[in-house]
Parts: sequence; structure tokens; C-alpha cells
Amino acid sequence: MSKTPAAHSMDDLLDHEYDGIREYDNPCPGWWQWIFFFTFVFALAYFFYFHVGHAGITVEKSYENAVANNLRLRFAEIGELKLDEPTLLKYMHEPEYLKVGRSVFEQNCQQCHGSDGQGLVGPNLTDDFYKNVTNVGDILNVVKNGAANGSMPAWGRLHPNEILLVSAYVATLRGENLPGPRGPEGKKIPPWPTYEPGGDEQPDAGAGKTESDAKPQPPNPDGHKSDVGTADKEPTPDVGKK
Ligand code: HEC
Repeated sequence: MSKTPAAHSMDDLLDHEYDGIREYDNPCPGWWQWIFFFTFVFALAYFFYFHVGHAGITVEKSYENAVANNLRLRFAEIGELKLDEPTLLKYMHEPEYLKVGRSVFEQNCQQCHGSDGQGLVGPNLTDDFYKNVTNVGDILNVVKNGAANGSMPAWGRLHPNEILLVSAYVATLRGENLPGPRGPEGKKIPPWPTYEPGGDEQPDAGAGKTESDAKPQPPNPDGHKSDVGTADKEPTPDVGKK
């Protein structure tokens, strides 16, 4: 009662009382409050930077980057793929690489086309109806250049192999006919061409190789392809035409 350390008078006592215990109106020290305000501001900044803006590298993002880099290492095995229809058809039948295509899809496309391509903002990719695609190779162009003035963005920033593999993956979704939030859009297009494994890489009959003749050569009424001169080379990933 005599001398309180902080030299309070009775007037400073708040007027409530619990079991005889009373308290002064002591504000928290300024430095303590500043720490509190700082955590508050920091949390806001953190929230917007990492969770709203998606600009910051989160654990999730850096994991995705690591996976993508790992995939890039594997690209050394296949070289830089040609963005053409034969290559696309070929990789529609390479399950390992379709997984790469799927991961590209999950990272860049599913927010608009749905987790399984069933459609959302963008059209359903699992049915037979397409707006910008008539041949399977058109998928490459849509992905590379975008469509509808950018509502389907252009994906030039992806590695060409990622463009090819995600297009191959998308092409394989056709036929699953998953129900989506949007009805069929565009027109019904003819089925994808059938793929003959190695068909495009086989030298035409008479090109001089025998060990690769295990399967019958397709009849070729128009005579030889013009690029028959390349036929004896080791097949490279982009053996093709033109
Ligand atoms: C921002 C949303 C968005 C993202 C992300 C997106 N797309 Fe699209 N996509 C669209 C829209 C919208 C269309 C339809 C364009 C139109 O109306 O012609 C479309 C069309 C397509 C088509 C042609 C479908 C058709 O019916 O003609 C393909 C193929 C396609 N997208 C693949 C992809 C792939 C692969 C990715 C990822 C690399 C991707 N999209 C990412 C919105 C998106």
C-alpha cells in the first residue's frame, strides 16, 4: 500500500475486482507492441506473396521445379523433338514420356481444362468435339501459338519437348469422354490416324537394309520418298520428312 514500484496511485486501479485481486491499467511496452504489429504485417505480406500472388517460391513450387529439371535431364536421351504430327503420334505411344506430358499438363493446363481434361474455363479435351483442331497435329499449333486471342494462352515458354509431350498427352485424352461442366464445343472431327510403330522410320523397301525388315513394308504406290538418302543412317529422334 505504501510505495508501489511503479508509483501508481489508487486512481490508476481499474474498477473491476476478482476475489480481491485488482489490476492497474498497464499498457504493454512499446517494443512489445511493435513486435506484435510486425508479425501482423509480415503475415499479411507472406499470405499475399505466397498464397495469393503465387510469386514466391513455395516448397511445393521448388519441388515442381526440381521435378521439371529432372525431366529436362531426360530430354538429353531424346534430343529436341520435332513439333510435327509423326513425332506426336509416336509419343502418344510412349507411356514413360506421356507421364512427362501429364506433369506438364498438371502444372500448366489443368486449371483451365480440368484435372483430367474434362473442361472448365477451356473446352473438354476428352470428347470428339474440337474448335481449333481438325488433325492431331493441330494440337501442337494451338499449344504453341494459343487460340481465341489468348484465352487459350500460347505456350512458347515451354521447352519444345514439353510442348510435344503435353500435346501427345492431350491427344490421348480423346475418347475418355469424361462429363465436364461444358457441353460439346466445336465440331466432331474424324478419329486420329492410326499409328504404325516405326512406320515412319523404316526405309522404304529396297533401301538396302535387311535386319530391319521384320515387319511388312506398307505398299507405296507413289514410289520412294524423296528423302530415301537418309535411310541408312541411325534413326535419330527427328527422323522425318521435309
Ligand atoms: C487460361 C486458361 C487456359 C490454360 C491455362 C490452357 N488453356 Fe487450352 N484452351 C483454353 C481455352 C479458353 C480454349 C478454347 C479456345 C477457343 O475458344 O477457341 C482452349 C483450347 C485448347 C485446345 C483446343 C481445343 C479445341 O477444342 O480446339 C487445346 C488442345 C488446349 N487448349 C490445350 C491446352 C494445353 C496443352 C494447355 C497447357 C499447356 C492449355 N491448353 C492451357 C484455355 C486455357
